[in-house]
Amino acid sequence: MKKIATIGGDGVGKEVMEAGLTILESLDLNFDYIEAHAGDEYFQKTGLTIPEETVKIAKNSSATLFGAITSTHGEKSPIITLRKELDVFANLRPVKSFEGVNSLFQNLDFLIVRENTEGLYSQIESLEEKKEKEKFKTIKSIATRVITKRASEKICNYAFKKAIEEDRKRVTCVHKANVLKKTDGIFKEAFYNIAKDYSKINQNIVVNDYYIDATAMYLITKPQEFGIIVTSNLYGDIISDEAAGLVGGLGLSPSANVGDNNGLFEPVHGSGPDIAGQNIANPIAMILSIAMMLDFLKEKYYGDQIRLAVENVLKTKKVATPDLGGNSKTMDMADAIKNELKQLI
Ligand code: NAI
Ligand code: MG
Repeated sequence: MKKIATIGGDGVGKEVMEAGLTILESLDLNFDYIEAHAGDEYFQKTGLTIPEETVKIAKNSSATLFGAITSTHGEKSPIITLRKELDVFANLRPVKSFEGVNSLFQNLDFLIVRENTEGLYSQIESLEEKKEKEKFKTIKSIATRVITKRASEKICNYAFKKAIEEDRKRVTCVHKANVLKKTDGIFKEAFYNIAKDYSKINQNIVVNDYYIDATAMYLITKPQEFGIIVTSNLYGDIISDEAAGLVGGLGLSPSANVGDNNGLFEPVHGSGPDIAGQNIANPIAMILSIAMMLDFLKEKYYGDQIRLAVENVLKTKKVATPDLGGNSKTMDMADAIKNELKQLI
């Protein structure tokens, strides 16, 4: 029996987890669910944002489902800690438009591949303080941005592997090597080294690179051009929210964090404090993350059926949470998808 760790977290994270689990439990899958804790609420009770136990449960599971956490407390972010501990080096964030959703663009379909273990999210920060008139005053704070050749090559290799697997026509490296010559210089060089290797086995993939600032514009002026974007941690985080905005918002944007041995699946969004507690969060980002988890667990048939059920429900527009312009509740949306799924299977 496959073990699935579930970490709801805070705010809408818990709400979409509950909705997502009703979908999973309606399928004929022999999974054992183990609940684990992380986040602000857990911190209020225990003084820890992520206990060792949660990391252990995630490591011993076939896959981990994560809702979202509020990150006001604690030195280190629980989700970034989990990604590091599980060594899920690739963060995959598909950007896809849906029929029936009023969005800035239709017919978009590309994938952001974000390096997940280093960059500016290495969480190496320091403060330099000086005593001035009985008080300490911060005079300098430093964050270390780690970029290694090994991790850069690994993520670029993964991006090309995905391009072939998903028949994507273009792979774009996003960086800022004109300013960050040493760190992003390594990333860009790793990209072109790997591109050269792949050109020997597949000459059909167009390869290019853009600076991150220009990319922020191209995502709005010519998003149809993108096939796969491969980039470092912080840039990937920022442009994936921007890209979500092109196709209907964070309520529809799933993600997978994958490594050689582990998989961690979560919506792109956070704990949504502005809408938490009202049961109006859109559960689709979580439900599509579950579909990605099923692909990872070699249950692609169910992953495909979930994606189809989501597409069908969005197309009819009968059920829509407030982010999609309606007034349905989280569970109305989950139930509609569950019923559609029943028809399909
Ligand atoms: P957020 O992603 O929670 O919210 C941004 C916007 O998206 C808000 O307008 C929110 O209402 C909307 N939104 C989020 N999820 C939605 C859903 N399922 N359906 C419909 N609309 C949805 O980001 P924000 O407000 O910047 O951060 C809130 C908290 O979440 C912070 O404490 C932040 O640190 C944390 N966070 C946690 C993440 C994680 O656990 N992986 C990721 C991003 C933020
Ligand atoms: Mg983010």
